[in-house]
Amino acid sequence: MTETWTDAERELANRMRGADIISVRQFTAPDLGTLLQIVERFETVTSPVLQGKVLGALFFEPSTRTRLSFESAMVRLGGGCIGFADAGISSAAKGESLPDTIRIVESYCDIIVIRHPREGAGRAAADAAEKPVINGGDGSNQHPTQTLLDLYTIRRRMGTVAGLRVGFVGDLKYGRAAHSLIEALAMLGNELVLVSPESLRLPPRQREDLDALGGVWSETPDLASVVPGLDVLYVTRIQRERFGDPLDYERVKDVYQVDEATIAPSRDGLIVMHPLPRVLEIHPSVDASPKAAYFEQAANGVTVRKTLLSLLLGVTP
Ligand code: NCD
Repeated sequence: MTETWTDAERELANRMRGADIISVRQFTAPDLGTLLQIVERFETVTSPVLQGKVLGALFFEPSTRTRLSFESAMVRLGGGCIGFADAGISSAAKGESLPDTIRIVESYCDIIVIRHPREGAGRAAADAAEKPVINGGDGSNQHPTQTLLDLYTIRRRMGTVAGLRVGFVGDLKYGRAAHSLIEALAMLGNELVLVSPESLRLPPRQREDLDALGGVWSETPDLASVVPGLDVLYVTRIQRERFGDPLDYERVKDVYQVDEATIAPSRDGLIVMHPLPRVLEIHPSVDASPKAAYFEQAANGVTVRKTLLSLLLGVTP
């Protein structure tokens, strides 16, 4: 398989050996395209290329897909996993600092994935570690590996990750999956339509970043008016855990509920995506639609994470 890699793929693989993955901004638009090509190569990799390697999975926040798909990727490639899914049972509960935890854990493993409620925790962990660190979500900031699996899903379904009109609906204020993907899609030359209630609009910093990237985007609270023009509808959960005041959550929690009627006026080729977990925002009746891509999206997480673990560990099949 190695023989058939393009120069760009080899060059990116070399650069990623030993690196961290903290933010989508560390990649250029051509890098993202090349990385998706490499992910495609990993679809067929089932040999134990990561035998003897250990992943440390430190989850200071709840997770199902991100943690388990990283662990599955590691195990499927022959490696092992250590870690915790509940920071309450780690020494963080005794007051240990994040850099101390990282320094210890990296002596037990070869690569770390960390999810943490504090923005910048992924960067801080990478600064404390000698070994590669992957940001599995830091507060409302970034979720770069989610973005890579989102892009991979779009590419598989639409045949491209450029020139599309992508609608984002839901919690654009706190949603890190949306924040990362919005940036990446702008870098790749897509048009973005941001749909949210007033209180959950994209924050000023992310707007500035979007403008700095030359992003083409518009904003509206009205989902129905934009559905017919979209190629992709990316639905996000209203994130109750990030609201300071529970009443603010109650006011907006069911403001968008995508059902069959919502997507009936859409283009035939529309795909509906969601990083999951969903609560009320996509009705289960949409699941049977050929437009629903969210379960496939979650499944793609394993291939994407197999690729990232292998590249960062410098093992290419
Ligand atoms: C997202 C997250 O944790 O940021 N989930 C995920 O990683 N698939 C989105 C969410 O929790 O709503």
